[in-house]
Amino acid sequence: MEDLRLGIIGIGNMGSLHVIMMSEEKVKRCHLTAVCDIKQSRLDWAKEFWAGTGHDYDLEYYTDYKDMLASKNVDLILISVPHYLHPVIGIEGFRAGKHVLSEKPVGVYTKKVEEFMAEAKKAREEKGLAFGLMLNMRPEPNYQKIREIVQSGELGQRKRVNWIITNWYRTQDYYNSGGWRATYAGEGGGVLLNQCPHQLDLWQWIYGMPKRIRAFTYNGKYHDIEVEDDVTAYAEYEDGSTGVFVTTTGEFPGTNRLEISGSKGKILYENGKLLYTKLNMDEREYCFKANDDFPPLETTTEEIELGYGKGHRAIVQNLTDHILDGTPLLAPGEDGINSLSIANAMVLSSWTDDWVDLPIDADKYWAMLQERIKTSKVKENVTERVKDMSGTFNMGKK
Ligand SMILES: NC(=O)c1ccc[n+]([C@@H]2O[C@H](COP(=O)([O-])OP(=O)(O)OC[C@H]3O[C@@H](n4cnc5c(N)ncnc54)[C@H](O)[C@@H]3O)[C@@H](O)[C@H]2O)c1
Repeated sequence: MEDLRLGIIGIGNMGSLHVIMMSEEKVKRCHLTAVCDIKQSRLDWAKEFWAGTGHDYDLEYYTDYKDMLASKNVDLILISVPHYLHPVIGIEGFRAGKHVLSEKPVGVYTKKVEEFMAEAKKAREEKGLAFGLMLNMRPEPNYQKIREIVQSGELGQRKRVNWIITNWYRTQDYYNSGGWRATYAGEGGGVLLNQCPHQLDLWQWIYGMPKRIRAFTYNGKYHDIEVEDDVTAYAEYEDGSTGVFVTTTGEFPGTNRLEISGSKGKILYENGKLLYTKLNMDEREYCFKANDDFPPLETTTEEIELGYGKGHRAIVQNLTDHILDGTPLLAPGEDGINSLSIANAMVLSSWTDDWVDLPIDADKYWAMLQERIKTSKVKENVTERVKDMSGTFNMGKK
């Protein structure tokens, strides 16, 4: 099969970085052929940038993504526009016969994402099309190792998973840089929808889906915004273990600490350092056997050093290999509904001041979101700016 031709839709903060990444030609057998943005200024940027890269061909430039979907020079689209549009453009992409790679989150609410998934299934079965999601932290070796340990059962009886992820600091200027940002009508949510889809995905990818959630989300606690910028959530799992997830964009310095404990061991991943502590016997057994003659529990701690992965590039490469060779997908688009369900459940719990069972009541969430959209104000007269966010990808490092 011939190499893939990629079209990027949306060349703002993230899409521009995707253009730069693809210009380096480090993704094998996938080449950028087209870009699309409703803003001429972004297309002008792309044209000038591409001219300076020394490639011997020019890109196709579109202001309307429907025209890009009609192009015969695009096999795969990468959707990098505000979140509400991910399922909208993705569904049209499948109908136009394109493979789809969507930025995270896969959508804003699960009701729409279910439609997206149904279309993806149809496209896969009828046209052999692939559906990937830009979950660029899944290729990180540290998270892969943590997942391997947890899923092997080595930790014994699972007790607790805690993630404090408060190093997503954002200034008011960031929120002011786009009219859609941090509004219910334009973005549909805050830190849970924009910054945390990565950690919410890893949380469930490593540990599994919770059965119910109780959460407290605060809107505009640290910024002049409509949506949540501070969250504390408590989760319960089928096996009786529990979890706590804490996040904000308003704390500095922040913390990124993932801790998973079981009866036979404990994992601590903080500031890029992975520690694995093993017990010399199962604590649950020890607890009921121990007496004065019984030796104390002992632990050994190993620091596992694995380095860092290739992030976004690894996701595009994996999807390319999947389409061309059938390599298993590392980040299937369908997985996106899990992290989105958790995010929606946290928000719904706060809105209703009650527990929320998973899977969530998609209609209820949608209806309550519509109420908020009615009074939401997408900011007008905003001078939209592209900001270099490459230093904030938060791949687990400090
Ligand atoms: N995976 C990651 O590491 C990562 C990092 C940042 C952002 N993102 C995701 O990327 C998406 C975009 O975020 P951003 O920060 O780049 O936003 P942005 O506002 O900087 O860029 C969005 C771009 O899309 C364009 N656009 C809007 N509607 C369009 C349409 N109908 N057709 C074509 N272009 C359109 C806008 O003009 C803008 O240039 C979000 O969903 C966000 O969650 C992912």
